[in-house]
Amino acid sequence: MLHSALINVMVKAARRAGRSLKRDLGEIEHLQVSLKGPANFVSLADKRAEEMIYTDLAKARPGYGFLGEEGGNREGSDKSHTWIVDPLDGTTNFLHGIPQFAISIGLKREDTVIAGVIYNPANDELYIAERGKGAFLNDQRLRVAGRRKLNECVIACGLPHIGRGDHQLALQEMAALQDKIAGFRRFGAAALDFAFVAAGRLDGYWERNLQPWDIAAGQILVREAGGIVSGIEGHDNALTTKNVVCGNEFVHGELVKILKPLAD
Ligand code: IPD
Ligand code: CA
Ligand code: CA
Repeated sequence: MLHSALINVMVKAARRAGRSLKRDLGEIEHLQVSLKGPANFVSLADKRAEEMIYTDLAKARPGYGFLGEEGGNREGSDKSHTWIVDPLDGTTNFLHGIPQFAISIGLKREDTVIAGVIYNPANDELYIAERGKGAFLNDQRLRVAGRRKLNECVIACGLPHIGRGDHQLALQEMAALQDKIAGFRRFGAAALDFAFVAAGRLDGYWERNLQPWDIAAGQILVREAGGIVSGIEGHDNALTTKNVVCGNEFVHGELVKILKPLAD
């Protein structure tokens, strides 16, 4: 399938970094058994992937700004375009050899994300979206699931862990939802949670305390697949609210109705 030159640039960068992460995953499987574990190795893998992505994107679009999880903000001469990149989303999964992780690349023009690529090198699933042109998984057009009964819906969430987030609020959110839905999932890679909603595998997803690089590419994927993404308070730009809720129009509305009052 033919995509724009922009998407081709993003896919090329994601695939090259993906090959590197996939090689590293093989190494991690060996390091698991050592006492020290693979933690240091993973933080190197992460940085190496980000540098590869930066190099490829900067070569193809010199001047664009770059916001990466590892290297922070690198200003460009073109102030209207910024790449927003998580070189390894799902680090804890990667560290444990669980093949649910991804590279996430978004491109923001002014305040709007106009393109997104999410790539899981472990299973070679490549998600792409461009504003007004739809969302795709390995060239198959994506559409969010159509369910309109919450008790049939499978919903993903993020859960705060040691040292992070509001544990009490997370428990209240789970309690408020668990007798209304068909099942919770906690997969551990925000970018892929969005991608699964876009692909209709999940009916909805919410999470607090995310960063722009967790959200940028995923947000456009879900929107281009016909879904709604907002902050939990209902604000439109989840990139700035740092908490997100998404799904089809019905599921999104129901989740906002249930989750929003809990944090008020
Ligand atoms: C994390 C993952 C995880 C989410 C965390 C993120 P990282 O990103 O997306 O699913 O629950 O909030 O920070 O650290 O693996 O890039
Ligand atoms: Ca992340
Ligand atoms: Ca990361």
